[in-house]
Amino acid sequence: MKPKIVRTIEALRRETAKWRNDDLTFAIVPTMGALHEGHLALVAEGLEHADKVLVTIFVNARQFGANEDLSRYPRDEAGDVAKLAEAGAHLIFAPPPEEVYGEGFATTVVLKGPAKANLEDKFRPHFFDGVATIVAKLFIQSGADFAMFGEKDYQQLLVVTQMARDLDMPVRVIGVPTMRAPDGLALSSRNQYLTKTERGYATAIHKSLMQAAEKIRSGTDPQKAMRAASRSLTTLGFKVDYVTARNAETLAVPQSHSDEPLRLLAAAWIGKTRLIDNIEV
Ligand code: PAF
Repeated sequence: MKPKIVRTIEALRRETAKWRNDDLTFAIVPTMGALHEGHLALVAEGLEHADKVLVTIFVNARQFGANEDLSRYPRDEAGDVAKLAEAGAHLIFAPPPEEVYGEGFATTVVLKGPAKANLEDKFRPHFFDGVATIVAKLFIQSGADFAMFGEKDYQQLLVVTQMARDLDMPVRVIGVPTMRAPDGLALSSRNQYLTKTERGYATAIHKSLMQAAEKIRSGTDPQKAMRAASRSLTTLGFKVDYVTARNAETLAVPQSHSDEPLRLLAAAWIGKTRLIDNIEV
């Protein structure tokens, strides 16, 4: 069934209040639209945890830097609605920008911890302030019980989890494993930017992370394995922002010879497209 679309906070609250009155729980899946199988996996996981699933579609200008891809970010609301109907989502909140950021809007969430890990924050300094602010607003506007976030944006997942915990937001943030194309490329709305040749090379990011993980499991020092992964991507023509091993819970640089849980994270440009990926060891 086609999910209902609401565009104002008032209408959203009216709909979620009905669910509350019926004692139903609900999960929120925040998105910027241009939905792919990865987003639909978040909806499916939401349906596992809650009675209803709310998907938000909002291209949040505040998380894009001046020279980033805001104007060309893919938009396809009709296609998104059709996919969400198929996936079994119940409600879509797709507000216009002026509904979200009223005149004189002047508040942002200030972050530390995993938001200051010298990863995405180093290369996109505005990004997490924008993400945390919109996600905090969506949590407050909706009052969702659960919130589904993809592990593909691993640092984002940790930042949002920490924010919800620190600010006592009554929502459980749940991370969902990355969906991949058959050749391993992590699904992303930005994959649409890749030319055919670039798409062929793009799988190398995941491959190099997998090879590094294998070496680390066989005893190679993590940062040495990651330096080799970075070199192999550079040789293929990528411009690497970072390829690094971090503590999976804090994103701190791991101590040498420790047995802390590791996450391998990468961000690299191929042509004009910036791709990110990560895997556990
Ligand atoms: O991951 C995304 O698509 C965005 O950062 C999010 C969480 C929807 C906030 O705009």
